[in-house]
Amino acid sequence: MERVRVGIIGLGIMGDLYAKIYSAHPLAEVVAVSALRQARVDEMCGRYQIKNGYTDYRKMLERNDLDAVVVATPDRYHFAPARDVLDSGRHALVEKPFTTSVAEADELLRVAERKGRKIQVAFNHRWLSPYHQAKTTVASGKIGKPLAAYARKNDTIFVATDYISWAGETTSAWFLSSHDIDLIRWIFDSEPVEARAWGRKEVLAGRGIPTYDVIQAQVRFASGAFATFESAWIYPNTFPSIVDSFVEVLATAGHIHMDRKYESIEVSTPESYTFPKGFLNMEVFGRMRGAFPSCLEDFLFAIRDDRAPFVTGFDGRQVTAALEAIHRSLESGQTEPVG
Ligand SMILES: NC(=O)c1ccc[n+]([C@@H]2O[C@H](COP(=O)([O-])OP(=O)(O)OC[C@H]3O[C@@H](n4cnc5c(N)ncnc54)[C@H](O)[C@@H]3O)[C@@H](O)[C@H]2O)c1
Repeated sequence: MERVRVGIIGLGIMGDLYAKIYSAHPLAEVVAVSALRQARVDEMCGRYQIKNGYTDYRKMLERNDLDAVVVATPDRYHFAPARDVLDSGRHALVEKPFTTSVAEADELLRVAERKGRKIQVAFNHRWLSPYHQAKTTVASGKIGKPLAAYARKNDTIFVATDYISWAGETTSAWFLSSHDIDLIRWIFDSEPVEARAWGRKEVLAGRGIPTYDVIQAQVRFASGAFATFESAWIYPNTFPSIVDSFVEVLATAGHIHMDRKYESIEVSTPESYTFPKGFLNMEVFGRMRGAFPSCLEDFLFAIRDDRAPFVTGFDGRQVTAALEAIHRSLESGQTEPVG
């Protein structure tokens, strides 16, 4: 195969990055893009010299020159485009969370199976070297058997109030803990079986955004290990990093700490003191580098080499199942089984 002919659905913050990375990649050609607003479609087509733009992704899927399509719509709107992409016989790269219900996830797995197409879910944190090292360290047995984990992803309030316009249609757990649940299941090599969660709605609700300020969930895995997943959207904007990201794995003969609040650089100016982020995405000598471009590149290799992606639709489905149980528990106040 020569280049993978890519389409993109959703041209917001993430869709822009997909267009930028794939349009510069020697193994990819961005053939067409789609978003709801014509002005945004025109802007992206102009910025990355993409010839074909659509405001209805279904029209884009009528083309006969697409091999794979990225779905980068808001959290609750992955299912319909992903189903239509797979049903049209294209491979799908779907943003996290894969879907916001298990029934939707199972339907996508069925369509992919029927059509013989691949699904990769963009849990790009698996490409961050500290997490990968944690996975291989645990798998080597060096720190014994994992017993418990704690994973925190807390954003500054800017993310919920300004960065995305649809915070009220999702939760910090769908948006943030989805990454951590994927990481811990991967590192534990075990599936989640039950969840109990607590959440508070005060600050964001008071600002007209009907979602949780903070969620803490405890999830038990089939191995007997358990993990606490914390996600919050109300750190003050004075916090020096957009996200406070911390993961701990405690095992019978050792532990691992991964602290990504600080990615080795701190910058002070007369206006601010910050910890800029660069490990996921950073332009270096004119090209995007980091875990996110590597995740995108491996999707191209999975198609070219006709092998399973490193993060599959099944992985996405399992994370959705844990999150569905967490949200049921937030409502019921009970421990809920993972479907
Ligand atoms: N992997 C990561 O690290 C990471 C980071 C941030 C966001 N995300 C995820 O990426 C997804 C997109 O987030 P974002 O921040 O880019 O959102 P955004 O609001 O900036 O962009 C969403 C885009 O989707 C388009 N859209 C919505 N419905 C559509 C439809 N039916 N057809 C075509 N286009 C449609 C909108 O027009 C917009 O262009 C979310 O699921 C989010 O959780 C992932």
